[in-house]
Amino acid sequence: MFQACHEAGIDFYGIDPLFAKKVDIRFKDRMLARAMGSRGQFSHTPQGRSKAISAYADALPFADQSVDQILTSFLLFVWIKDEAALTKILREFLRVLKPGGVAKLYPLPEWRLMHFKSLELIEVFEQFTIRQAFVHGGLDFRVTPAMLTEMSK
Ligand SMILES: C[S@@+](CC[C@H](N)C(=O)[O-])C[C@H]1O[C@@H](n2cnc3c(N)ncnc32)[C@H](O)[C@@H]1O
Repeated sequence: MFQACHEAGIDFYGIDPLFAKKVDIRFKDRMLARAMGSRGQFSHTPQGRSKAISAYADALPFADQSVDQILTSFLLFVWIKDEAALTKILREFLRVLKPGGVAKLYPLPEWRLMHFKSLELIEVFEQFTIRQAFVHGGLDFRVTPAMLTEMSK
């Protein structure tokens, strides 16, 4: 992603607390990546790597209203399910997104099947326009068939 976005001129940042750790690319990682269709060279220092930032989603290192799009994969509602934590993160998304900006969350269940207790969280949802679409990769099994959720500010 870092190399590809650098080459395409896309100002892409990756946020994960794990970026503080040294990344090992082991033999089995290379084999798995090749089996999943990855091409090109493996590198610890691809161009754009300086935009891999160790931080948490509820304290993003970006100015107010400065971000066009946020992508989360297997994080919100999957890895992080605590409603207080989700509220903090979605408030942070509202802070950094430009007006009209969008957060894309993948994968999620169907929105109407999800139930929440926290009024604060429900209030945050009300500040977004939420749309969902079913996505799949056809014969490309790297894409888990699931709902892609777009939350527009
Ligand atoms: C299930 S993995 C998903 C990794 C990757 N996004 C993907 O789709 O393969 C969840 C990742 O979220 C990171 N993570 C956990 N809590 C986080 C938080 N509060 N803010 C940002 N990243 C977090 C973890 O370190 C882990 O790498």
